[in-house]
Amino acid sequence: MSVKIALLGCGTVGTAVAKMLKAQSKDFAQRAGDELELVGIGVRNIDAPRDPEIDRTLLTDDLEALTTKADIVIELIGGVDPARTLVLGAIKNGATVVTGNKALLAAHGPEIYEAAAEADVDVYYEAAVAGAVPVVYGLRESLAGDRVETVMGILNGTTNFILDEMETNGMSFDDALKLAQDLGYAEADPTADVDGHDAAAKIAILASLAFHTRVSIDNVPTTGIRSITAEDIAAAKRDGFAIKLLGIARRQEAGIELSVEPTLVPLDHPLASVRGSFNSVVTESAGAGRLMFYGRGAGGDPTASAVLSDVVAGASHRVYGGRAPRELTYADLPILTPDEG
Ligand code: HSE
Repeated sequence: MSVKIALLGCGTVGTAVAKMLKAQSKDFAQRAGDELELVGIGVRNIDAPRDPEIDRTLLTDDLEALTTKADIVIELIGGVDPARTLVLGAIKNGATVVTGNKALLAAHGPEIYEAAAEADVDVYYEAAVAGAVPVVYGLRESLAGDRVETVMGILNGTTNFILDEMETNGMSFDDALKLAQDLGYAEADPTADVDGHDAAAKIAILASLAFHTRVSIDNVPTTGIRSITAEDIAAAKRDGFAIKLLGIARRQEAGIELSVEPTLVPLDHPLASVRGSFNSVVTESAGAGRLMFYGRGAGGDPTASAVLSDVVAGASHRVYGGRAPRELTYADLPILTPDEG
């Protein structure tokens, strides 16, 4: 027997997942209680160039058929379609789903969680927010005994990297973006990074977890970093601030206030010193007070680490029993529009 794994997507993160799964197979088998067997890698183009360590005999372009052969489906193709259909199909077949797809969850999370509850399977998504940083776990599990008031942070590595390069190395916006793409931080279409939609999807996911309510990407007023110039950054610094693209979700008396926008952060605030592609999330809660999560928010290996932690947890639950925490969306909290906040 083994736990059969299907990997959908073999880009930067998918490649890192396949390699780490192979390199650490003995350890993972010990931790999960059974061997984790990669039964196939679903890709759009079988003939595209690949990392030499990828076993090409595992490649298939029939992603739907692949999902029927697996106990755990790892979805790393990104975007809403066809990811949504594939994930819903996998759930219907009784597979555990591990996804890093923030756009999918921020738009269709409730549909997916309901389908999973109906099929009695789990959906894991640590990799969807802040790469390696265990903030989904933090909100879902570590803060389950608390009342979260605020979640805010730097949730997009690409834009933090660009702002940082513009400030410290005098790089142009376009050159810094190109470098972020070369380093594997940016989305396939970097518009989602630069215009703030990637951060908006992530703060929607975190707000849903923090406040036990349904927040979609459409609820998040969003401004990206396109209009920020090197002069703006220098002027802010002279006044004692860093410019950071912050996602913020706050519980107010009347409901939840959300935003993604470039924000002046005082230089002595911990978020001001988050450099490069690193992410950081700060939570404020009634009991714990302030918690700060920090680490690599983008890139192949850091994101693969989050994916594989979910795979090991999901496999171990399939072997020994046990479940992921349920998605709890019991709170009927209004989402405030910017004027109400
Ligand atoms: N493009 C994303 C970022 C990758 O730059 O943060 C991680 O979600």
